[in-house]
Amino acid sequence: MCGIVGYTGPREAYPIILKGLKRLEYRGYDSSGVALLHDGKLDVYKKKGKVAELEESLTGKNLHANIGIGHTRWATHGEPSDRNSHPHTSASGRLSIIHNGIIENYAPLKKELISKGYSFTSDTDTEVLLNFIEDIQINNDCSLEEAVRIALKRITGAYCILLLDEQDPETIIAARKGSPLVIGIGKGEHFLASDASPIIEYTKEVVYVNDYELAIVRPNELILKNLGNEKITPFITKLDMEMAAIEKGGYDHFMLKEIYEQPSTIQDCLRGRLNIESGTITMAGIDDHIEQIKNADRIMIVACGTSWHAGLVAEYIIEELCRIPVEVEYASEFRYRNPIVNKGDVIIAISQSGETADTLVALEKAKENGAFIFGVVNAVGSSIARISHAGAYTHAGHEIGVASTKAFTGQLAVLMMMALRIAIQKGTITKERYQQLLVELADVPEKVDAILKNAAHIKSIALKYKDARDFLFLGRGYNFPIALEGALKLKEISYIHAEGYPAAEMKHGPIALVDENLPVVFIATKDSYHEKIVSNMQEIKARKGKIISIITEGDEISPTLSDDVIFIPPADELIAPIISVIPLQLLSYFTGIAKGVDVDKPRNLAKSVTVE
Ligand code: M6R
Repeated sequence: MCGIVGYTGPREAYPIILKGLKRLEYRGYDSSGVALLHDGKLDVYKKKGKVAELEESLTGKNLHANIGIGHTRWATHGEPSDRNSHPHTSASGRLSIIHNGIIENYAPLKKELISKGYSFTSDTDTEVLLNFIEDIQINNDCSLEEAVRIALKRITGAYCILLLDEQDPETIIAARKGSPLVIGIGKGEHFLASDASPIIEYTKEVVYVNDYELAIVRPNELILKNLGNEKITPFITKLDMEMAAIEKGGYDHFMLKEIYEQPSTIQDCLRGRLNIESGTITMAGIDDHIEQIKNADRIMIVACGTSWHAGLVAEYIIEELCRIPVEVEYASEFRYRNPIVNKGDVIIAISQSGETADTLVALEKAKENGAFIFGVVNAVGSSIARISHAGAYTHAGHEIGVASTKAFTGQLAVLMMMALRIAIQKGTITKERYQQLLVELADVPEKVDAILKNAAHIKSIALKYKDARDFLFLGRGYNFPIALEGALKLKEISYIHAEGYPAAEMKHGPIALVDENLPVVFIATKDSYHEKIVSNMQEIKARKGKIISIITEGDEISPTLSDDVIFIPPADELIAPIISVIPLQLLSYFTGIAKGVDVDKPRNLAKSVTVE
């Protein structure tokens, strides 16, 4: 939630910050703002709405400065408005701050400050933090760095903050806990951002700042310290990312580009791991810990949103192939209840961004209880990747569209490989079945490509049903989580109410919704549940629901029950979810576009949910 950018060096800061904010807009787009420091004076500009609106409002202004900070907001405390936008300015006007996260104990701090005579111009927790810092600095007559350190020890919550001080014209003070911060190292200049996308075109050398670290950043100097004021040697990493990964590459939207990238992202995920000739799967994260993983008493999967759906597919597959009990937990529930986590448990964390606050905290909790943490993460170097004991990257590349697509299929491919690797080692799968599934998995990119070629047909179905008020998505077995995923995708980018259900469960309530206006999407590929789901189609048909079915090529029965049909290539039932989700991604995309939604930035959402 919220994107932050900072620059200090010889270049003009504003264009760098503006471009960076546009790249980080996926993290929030309720409002944006910049603070520029030049000639010992802070100029702060902010505007409700997207970054383009800020840019337009600044036309003609003198924005010359070699140091500055910028923010794109996903509102938490206070409605989206100009006055609640960041940067915020301290009571004296001397300090400016941007913040990603939530200060949980802001209310007592605010009360304390009000009693000292402070007043506030916004409803935000951030303005409270800033004045708290300033108050500490005044009372202790200390440096800003010292005041920040004292303040951060007293606050609870999550933050990544960047601060400017009018009286220190070359320095940005930054700190993080729970919200990401990357510092790019240039020649005589430094770049700061929530992720590497604003930095990549200037330098590939970066430092990922850790929780409870504070950075003092000047053009020629980067000092990292912990909150105890001890210096830490910055660990410089080389970015493995190209500019093309953060550009639309001729597509109208990032989401469409990412959907179309899937044949190659899935291939990238399998490459170097799956080898048909030798009949092997090589995954260092699994291989190095195979005894612990295959002998786990239980696997718990912790994730949110689409990643949670991937976890649900994994539950079915791991239990089937590895015979290890699996539980799938919403990270937000897991972290607050009192779950039983034992030493012999393996926790699999699934996350595209690797920064989802609920997942991160859930893992910290499980780690404290002695569990082994395995991260299935897309963003390289992210917080979840770093706190995991071992892991496997999904290698889907930078995902920018708020609706997760290629990261999901990457997660499914990784989880399938993990299950196969564990099962063959454990002896819970026959050699023949193992080899058959390797071949099936290797064929996925080609099958996904074939579905993408059918996009025009899927678009016509989207146009036919775009005005529906509600949708139902039904699936059974391995395709049940895909029904949930289809419903989530449609909700988030078309704003149509949609529900996903196990097809048989529909009789226990949702069937009451069915009438001639309700489109019901069946994910009914040829599998061991096929006859059962065909009966469920009959039940919907009998109540005049409109059936859109995702079915296997060659199926002759389902089309007779369906109003609209999307054929997909045949696949083993364990592999089918990676393929059957593709038409649902396209269906949502085309529906969202037909309804005029900004599908890359749908309302109220943010790509990376770094607040709980
Ligand atoms: O980055 P993560 O995978 O941890 O994110 C989890 C969810 O916030 C995410 O999947 C969300 O549900 C997507 N917008 C779904 O498209």
